[in-house]
Amino acid sequence: MKAVPTLISSNNTGLDQAVKALLDGEVVAFPTETVYGLGALVTLPQAIQSIFKAKGRPENHPLIVHVADHTDLQPWADIESPMAQALINAFWPGPLTIIVPKGPKLSTQVTGGQNSVGVRCPQNHVAQALLKRLPAPLAAPSANRFGKLSPTCVNHVMDELTGHINYVLEGEASQVGIESTIVSLLSDQPVLLRPGSITKNQLEAVLKCPVIQHSTDQENSSVRYSGGLSQHYSPNKKLYVCSPCELDATLQNNASNKPYIIGWAAPFVEKALGYQLIQLPDNPVSVAENLYAALRKADQSDSEIIIIEKPLENQQWAGVADRLKRASAKA
Ligand code: TXA
Ligand code: MG
Repeated sequence: MKAVPTLISSNNTGLDQAVKALLDGEVVAFPTETVYGLGALVTLPQAIQSIFKAKGRPENHPLIVHVADHTDLQPWADIESPMAQALINAFWPGPLTIIVPKGPKLSTQVTGGQNSVGVRCPQNHVAQALLKRLPAPLAAPSANRFGKLSPTCVNHVMDELTGHINYVLEGEASQVGIESTIVSLLSDQPVLLRPGSITKNQLEAVLKCPVIQHSTDQENSSVRYSGGLSQHYSPNKKLYVCSPCELDATLQNNASNKPYIIGWAAPFVEKALGYQLIQLPDNPVSVAENLYAALRKADQSDSEIIIIEKPLENQQWAGVADRLKRASAKA
C-alpha cells in the first residue's frame, strides 16, 4: 500500500487510469453528489474484500451498487416493480438509494449475505463518467473508516484512508453533503431506512402511498444496515447536540472543556459568540452540505468538545438530525 494515495485527475486520461485500476482489482475513491464513495467492481471478489479491509468494516454489512443508468442494473438487481420504476423516473440520477431484490448475477458478498441490494445512480458528473466506462457496476460505501465521519472532499478521503487505499479520483466537494436517502421496497409498504435530502414527503408524492419511517433499533434486526447502528458518522471528540435554550447549561456543565460550537439560527449563534464558532447558513440544504466538513474541522481543532445546534423537528431537517443523533450517540 502506498503511503499517500495517488490523486487521479478527472480528465479523460485520469478516468482511463481509474478504470484500469478498478479492472486490476484496486479500490478507487471517487466523488458523488452525496459523499465520496470507495468503489470496487461487483464482479471482483478480492476487490470487494479490499473495500471492507480499507474501511475496517465488518463483511456482513451490505454495500450499495452504483450504476450510470438504471438500464445497467439488468442482471444485478430487480427494478421491475412499479414502485421502483416510479422512484427511478422521479429521482435518478440523484441522491436516492432503493433497496430491491438482488439479481441472479450479483454476489451475496456485495449484499452482506442478503437477497436484497441497495442500488443508486449518482448524478455527479465524474461519477457518471467513471461508471459509464466500466463493464459492471461499482459497489461503494462511503470512503471513510467504519463508523467515522463521511468524506465530502478529496482532503477528507486522504485524512480517512491514507495507508489503506492506493487511488483517489479527483472531484469537487459533494454538494448534498450527507449520504443518500434509502428507501426499501421489499414489502408492500415502502420503508424509509435512512433520511436524506430527498424527503419522505417527496417519496410519498411519487409513490402515492405512505412511506413508513424506520424506527426500531436495527442492531437486533436480521437486516444489517450499518447506517442503522446507533453510533455512526462520529467525530473523535465528544459531541453535544443542543437547542438554543440548552446551550448555556451545556457550556456550564463542561466548563473545564474548551468547546467548538457549530450553529446556524440566530438565537443559538448569538449565545455562542465569543467561543470558537462555525456559523452555517440557516437552512437545511446548506447545513447538510457543510455538516461533515464543519464537524471534521472542529474535531481537528484544539478544542476538547464539540457542541452543535439541534435541528428543527421536521422533514426538511430529518437527514441532518439523523446524522447528528448517531454522531452524538454513546458507543
Ligand atoms: O450516498 C450514499 O449512499 C453513499 C455514496 C458513496 O453513494 N454511500 C453510502 O454507503 O452511504 P454506505 O455503505 O456508507 O451506507 C450504505 C447503507 C448502509 O447502512 C447499508 O447497510 C445500507 O445502505 N444497505 C445497503 N444495502 C442494503 C440492503 N440490502 N438492505 C438494507 N440496507 C442496506
Ligand atoms: Mg457510510
